[in-house]
Amino acid sequence: MLKPEIAKLLNEQVNAEFYASNVYLQLSAWCEAEGLEGAALFFRGHSLEERTHMDKIFDYLCECGIPVTIGAIAAPPTQFANLMEVINAAYQHELKVSAMIKNIANQAFQVQDYTTFNFIEWFIAEQHEEEVLFGKILSKAKMLGFDGSPGQALHHMDNFLRALEQHA
Ligand SMILES: [Fe+2]
Repeated sequence: MLKPEIAKLLNEQVNAEFYASNVYLQLSAWCEAEGLEGAALFFRGHSLEERTHMDKIFDYLCECGIPVTIGAIAAPPTQFANLMEVINAAYQHELKVSAMIKNIANQAFQVQDYTTFNFIEWFIAEQHEEEVLFGKILSKAKMLGFDGSPGQALHHMDNFLRALEQHA
């Protein structure tokens, strides 16, 4: 049986993964509206991935006999100046999620809930991958001298994001 504080954290994470999915869906919509098809595809794929994260935690809570509560999911930000701002928003969001996941691992360890600790390890590896991925995107932007302005660099970034999604 999960300790109530661990069950609460995991339930909050179910809702956080839903929010993350919506954040990426909104970023994808913004990119679509701007004609950035590659970036739209990339963020759309990420939105689906966050949904699978939600499913994983949902399943774990069900296996543990914990009733899941889906709460109100906050509306994600909608206004962005350019693609660089979108990329930075996504990266900052990933850092926040990483901190939440590490907190669950830490709390599980504190109460000697090694089952949850083992479960959440997958997410730690996943967040590491996300941070590496966004690190690559940011260094590509730097290499291209991309600051979000329209032009060749924007076109390259859009194609780069499309390629990342197609090879994922
Ligand atoms: Fe996630």
